[in-house]
Amino acid sequence: MASLHNVLLLGGNGKIAQLLTPLLLQRSWNVTSIIRDPAQVANLQKLGDGLGGKLNVLVRSLEEVTSDAQAKSLIDEVKPDYVVWSAGAGGKGAPERTYKIDRDAAIHFIRASVATPSVTKFVMISFLGSRLARPAWWSEEIWQQQLATSRKALQRYYEAKVAADEVLYVEGKKRPDFAGICLRPGRLTTEPVGKVGLGKLPVASGTSSRASVAHLTALLLDAPNVKNSWLDMLDGDEDPEAAVKRCVEEGVDCAEGEPFF
Ligand SMILES: NC(=O)c1ccc[n+]([C@@H]2O[C@H](COP(=O)([O-])OP(=O)(O)OC[C@H]3O[C@@H](n4cnc5c(N)ncnc54)[C@H](OP(=O)(O)O)[C@@H]3O)[C@@H](O)[C@H]2O)c1
Repeated sequence: MASLHNVLLLGGNGKIAQLLTPLLLQRSWNVTSIIRDPAQVANLQKLGDGLGGKLNVLVRSLEEVTSDAQAKSLIDEVKPDYVVWSAGAGGKGAPERTYKIDRDAAIHFIRASVATPSVTKFVMISFLGSRLARPAWWSEEIWQQQLATSRKALQRYYEAKVAADEVLYVEGKKRPDFAGICLRPGRLTTEPVGKVGLGKLPVASGTSSRASVAHLTALLLDAPNVKNSWLDMLDGDEDPEAAVKRCVEEGVDCAEGEPFF
């Protein structure tokens, strides 16, 4: 039987990506996981053992993707209908890596995905503080705290993510049959999957289990009517399936308040 979906997973060796991979394979979807280190292939390949879909691991450095055309060439090779970005420089190596990977390579893959008619969803793993303007559901005090963290402690990371998130939103809107979904967790933890807060949250800091981020990513890829949107997420008290259903049905979009909204 043909696989229902082909997912291109960028940053496949990451902690969230490794939790997401089996969730996609269990649905009998095929996954092509892009990693940068050949030494990681054997371990990663094991994630597919005994599961329905086929896992293909490709070694390509995202840092070397310096044009939309290069990103498009990888997309044309893999032929995904869904793309997930879970890569990040993670503060390792030279500081410019954050711009090269989290901003530039991410933007090349966003543009190339929107330019490929067969790609219909792109999930970006971002972070809660990646925004340019205070949303109506945050107080001025919360916003000032957020600014202090994002624009001081995490300045380079913030600049990179906010640029990529805007491009995903704006480019995604250009195609009615495309959903650019920006999932925006808080401080990531290794806690097991659990209940969540999803959508317009009244707080701007807190923890997000990586397992829950992976679970929500799979649910959002699965949701038939999900639209181009930003969704903030933290650990919380709502069942993840119910949270996704509510946000999709109500058209929740945390990009509200941004200059490009
Ligand atoms: N830290 C937080 O609290 C936080 C909060 C909210 C959101 N986020 C976002 O969530 C994302 C995923 O989180 P995570 O915990 O899964 O991060 P992670 O484990 O650091 O995963 C990031 C992955 O990106 C890969 N990568 C880096 N440079 C690459 C390159 N040139 N080519 C190919 N792959 C490359 C890394 O490869 P290697 O394995 O080879 O290093 C790593 O596997 C982060 O990138 C971040 O933007 C983080």
